[in-house]
Amino acid sequence: MSLQKLSLTVTTLMYLTLPLVIRIDSTQPPFSCDSSDPSTENYPFCKTTLPISQRVQDLVSRLTLDEKIPQLVNSAPPIPRLGIPGYEWWSEALHGVSEAGRGIRFNGTIKGATTFPQVILTAASFDSYMWYRIGQAIGTEARAVYNAGQATGMTFWAPNINIFRDPRWGRGQETPGEDPLVTGKYAVSYVRGVQGDTFEGGKLKGHLQASACCKHFTAYDLERWMGTTRYMFDARVTAQDLADTYQPPFESCVKQGSASGIMCAFNRVNGVPSCADYNLLTKTARGQWGFHGYIASDCDAVSIIYDVQGYAKTPEDAVVDVLKAGMDVNCGSYLQKHTESAVNQKKLPESEIDRALHNLFSIRMRLGLFNGNPSEQPFGNIGTDSVCSPAHQVLALQAAQDGIVLLKNSAKRLPLPKSKSMSLAVIGPNANSAYTLIGNYAGPACTFITILQALQNYVKNTFYDPGCDTVGCSSASIDKAVGIAKEADHVVLIMGLDQTQETEDLDRMDLVLPGKQQELITSVAKAAKKPVILVILCGGPVDISFAKYDSNIASILWAGYPGEAGGTALAEIIFGDHNPGGRLPMTWYPQDFVKIAMTDMRMRPEPNSGYPGRTYRFYKGDKVFEFGYGLSYSKYSYKFKHVTANKLYFNESSSTKMVENGQTVNYKSVSELGTEFCENKKFSVTVGVENDGEMDGKHPVLLFVKPEKNKNGRPIIQLVGFQSVILKAEEKAEIDFEVSPCEIFSRATENGLMVMEEGTHLLVVGDEEYPISLSFD
Ligand SMILES: *[C@@H]1O[C@H](CO)[C@@H](O)[C@H](O)[C@H]1NC(C)=O
Ligand SMILES: *[C@@H]1O[C@H](CO)[C@@H](O)[C@H](O)[C@H]1NC(C)=O
Repeated sequence: MSLQKLSLTVTTLMYLTLPLVIRIDSTQPPFSCDSSDPSTENYPFCKTTLPISQRVQDLVSRLTLDEKIPQLVNSAPPIPRLGIPGYEWWSEALHGVSEAGRGIRFNGTIKGATTFPQVILTAASFDSYMWYRIGQAIGTEARAVYNAGQATGMTFWAPNINIFRDPRWGRGQETPGEDPLVTGKYAVSYVRGVQGDTFEGGKLKGHLQASACCKHFTAYDLERWMGTTRYMFDARVTAQDLADTYQPPFESCVKQGSASGIMCAFNRVNGVPSCADYNLLTKTARGQWGFHGYIASDCDAVSIIYDVQGYAKTPEDAVVDVLKAGMDVNCGSYLQKHTESAVNQKKLPESEIDRALHNLFSIRMRLGLFNGNPSEQPFGNIGTDSVCSPAHQVLALQAAQDGIVLLKNSAKRLPLPKSKSMSLAVIGPNANSAYTLIGNYAGPACTFITILQALQNYVKNTFYDPGCDTVGCSSASIDKAVGIAKEADHVVLIMGLDQTQETEDLDRMDLVLPGKQQELITSVAKAAKKPVILVILCGGPVDISFAKYDSNIASILWAGYPGEAGGTALAEIIFGDHNPGGRLPMTWYPQDFVKIAMTDMRMRPEPNSGYPGRTYRFYKGDKVFEFGYGLSYSKYSYKFKHVTANKLYFNESSSTKMVENGQTVNYKSVSELGTEFCENKKFSVTVGVENDGEMDGKHPVLLFVKPEKNKNGRPIIQLVGFQSVILKAEEKAEIDFEVSPCEIFSRATENGLMVMEEGTHLLVVGDEEYPISLSFD
């Protein structure tokens, strides 16, 4: 039964059994400044004609210290004497409004929400407009849940925009992958969508449809490895890696995305806990980037500053450290317990509390929660019918279709023919699991359909065996699986990982498939009448070299965790109703990579010690599949059609000399060149793309830059732009990339300064290269 049908039934029952007045109360969203309550309407903080900062100042000035302190934690209590209801800061919406936080309850009319693919798969579409529309759908559904009286908060702790640095990371699945540009663009698109901005941005005017939060600030990408947990981990990060890898997504999220929230991370960075780092929270985010939202701690990230990290000498010191650093709200209860004594010990001026409350109440006002009855406000008319709407569910399907990556397709084995008489064997522990499809921080979803059920919609004559006891596959029913494989015309194996193998608080120790999965796959492939189809569900990459080179395995598809419509999307791809076009947003490393310490944060290789570096930008070792890799049922070819600059002169100001790695380089810092200069030097790159195949398709075009001569410390190659194009079979198109040399040709020095230097750079698309030289005449 679909959830919408289910909810109708439940609502009907409620009419029959509950008195009407209770039903109305339970669907009233919480809000302040109710015009029907004459005691509140004269407060200046209720006057919508005044600027928000003035209203907040009025509100905070009315609070006693005893009223202020409990507002500093995620479950903020009501202040009845001022008609202010409680507020829950913690809600989750990583890839769909979810019950994983505290602020959303699916126990009323609304029973679930649209569950989009896990972010790592959505990223594989390389389509920022798709990401925006997903954000928009999530923001709309969030508001509908609030309007239906099922939300006590509208602040969502997503997106997760940490760089997917190590393939073992259990939360890599939550991120858009390993590339800073992709991650930054994902952040901007998602945030604009959720908050109610336009795709181009800048139209928000303060009001928030819902609030998004960029996390985890910063350099957080380890759960637990060989006894090091995220709570105790001190990430040693170079200024260079911070400047061009770890920080750029956060900078984009704040500057272009106008995110209204940031979450500081559990870990320390170079000795300082993120939530206690004044340089990070106040100087960088608020000062340099112009952030004016609220900063939340990760859950219990304040207590560990004293309990685990020993950075603070007393609990009160921990409270003082975070509030003085610029954090505003604590997920947990630590600030509730220890703030009063910090004030009494004269360690904390009350003005620090007021500063935090100012940021917090500003967000609640921007959400419209102090404007009287929300049904009379902007977003007040977003109804229950927006949740799991047909349009949103189609979008969830498209996101899965556009993300799924075809990794191998020997002799055009896929797509399978659609024949009524054929038989199909479906084997694997992920074949009949709706739970695996939705990943973490998800659900409940609108509908559930497993991959097996979706395949059965195409082929009636289907045999199924899970093959393994669980996804961990400590025991396998190989004989049974081989038996059904022998009988069938075609065999599809649905294998990979799930949340028992990789998730929050759980990194992997290995990159190979768990338990007896490989043995099962190989045996089935050997026994089958024709080479088999292998589908891998996972967030982090898996070393499937054995399958890549096994001629009994004709085709491989990577489907991430494809969300509520993922089963349907896969079946459509397998039977040719959709042409796959996704490309990998992260490097697939071989198993051998696990000899590298997961705690080593360096992006750059160090040849002397055999450290190989990380991600496609720096790692030169063997790969199972590389960043950007992905096949299709069509073939695409590229040409550089027109580039408006061949040689760039930077003669407006003289360059500076610096010695790096024993060599003298002429450089100019990007900040010295200035925004206006960089704007003026923008140029356009026109790329011709042709679909040379027989099937229509959607194809992401990736534009890279690489230096002609690679030197130590420079990325080998770097993505500088991407765009998707829909092309019919044999159709051609031209794509324009508008690029700024200051962005695409600059690099970080060891001190973390972004600079331009003389030399030749190559624009790269597919196998095509186009040189552009840069000089300071
Ligand atoms: C839903 O759950 C919340 C939180 O547990 C509770 O306060 C509320 O009364 C519940 N609503 C219904 C209709 O059961
Ligand atoms: C250098 O700048 C001057 C003016 O500042 C300009 O006339 C000249 O053309 C520039 N040189 C080159 C090679 O672009």
